[in-house]
Amino acid sequence: MTIRSVETKYLERREEILRALVNLDRRAFLRVSGAAAAIAATRGIGHAHSFQPVRVDAPGAVEPFRFAYISDSHLYERKLNDRFIRSLLRAVDDVNALDPQPDFVLYGGDLAQLGQPAELDLGAQILKELKAPVKMMVGEHDWYLDLGEKWRSLFGKDVYSFDHKGIHFVVLNSVVEDDFWTVRGLTPMERMKTVAGLDNRSQSNFQVGPPQREWLTKDLEPVSDDTPVIVFSHSPLYHLYQGWNFWTIDAPEVQRILARFRHVTVIHGHTHQLLTNRIKNIHFHGMLSTAWPWPYAPQGLPELTVQMNRPNPFNSQDGCGDGQVLVNAEGLVDKVYNLWNRNVVTVAHEYLESNGVQKRPAAANVATY
Ligand SMILES: [Fe+2]
Ligand SMILES: [Fe+2]
Repeated sequence: MTIRSVETKYLERREEILRALVNLDRRAFLRVSGAAAAIAATRGIGHAHSFQPVRVDAPGAVEPFRFAYISDSHLYERKLNDRFIRSLLRAVDDVNALDPQPDFVLYGGDLAQLGQPAELDLGAQILKELKAPVKMMVGEHDWYLDLGEKWRSLFGKDVYSFDHKGIHFVVLNSVVEDDFWTVRGLTPMERMKTVAGLDNRSQSNFQVGPPQREWLTKDLEPVSDDTPVIVFSHSPLYHLYQGWNFWTIDAPEVQRILARFRHVTVIHGHTHQLLTNRIKNIHFHGMLSTAWPWPYAPQGLPELTVQMNRPNPFNSQDGCGDGQVLVNAEGLVDKVYNLWNRNVVTVAHEYLESNGVQKRPAAANVATY
């Protein structure tokens, strides 16, 4: 009898799932990932918004907890490319291995590469393997083929809020653009590809937009100044580098709406790198991508950012990863970057609170290429 190691068995199971994703239909995929799906079903976490909000009874009282994040997987259709599928599966494994499990997992947007139904279905199927509940956020790559129709059918609302253990959470759609396509008669795919090319200058910059800012103001009305607020946005909610759409036009207005709160944290995707900033009362943290790391913008890099070195071009997962957010009793956060090819980097709340004087994070430990 052949004895197979745990690692061999693990790799065989991964191959089985990948073969199912590449060759088979949804039913077959669910059969191979049946165990995980069954766990999800028994816990009632099949739907992204099945997570039960907890009302904030005592403003300012936070029960420390953690949540995990996965972001920017940019999945192609399964017959075209399985590299990014493997990366997302790796992130799902990382999060499922956390002990104890996180309270929930934030998915930070850009699940798909070109917003195609097959890409989004594939992403939804893989995310169902997560044991913890998932909070979804939209990115521009998910949105501009059909203006969110497919994404909403899978994941529900793109803008919402919830309360959890003393924190008020807000999820925004920060990738709203002015209509540049109608007047030019673009097809849906031409529109999608224009937005996907970040530096083509033939589109407007991202914004949250007036209707959503009005919604945010109303949503925050009953929330006391002492209640810590954590905002999820796909693009950074500040002006970083306009040429690459690392930019949200109306970020200053959104920051003004958030100005009265004692502690505000914004967790964003889109930039695919270690990124740290503080503007007045707001702490900003970028998320890693599972697909690829962007280079740093040539100007505008926030002073608090401890850069990761240029990734190893011979390792496609270097500079990628996932991570966790540890929320403390004050409602401040330590941001943990789980870089797959490097040391784990933690950006502690003290570092931002002291404007870079205390607890400077260690640099990611791979030499520059
Ligand atoms: Fe992205
Ligand atoms: Fe993006």
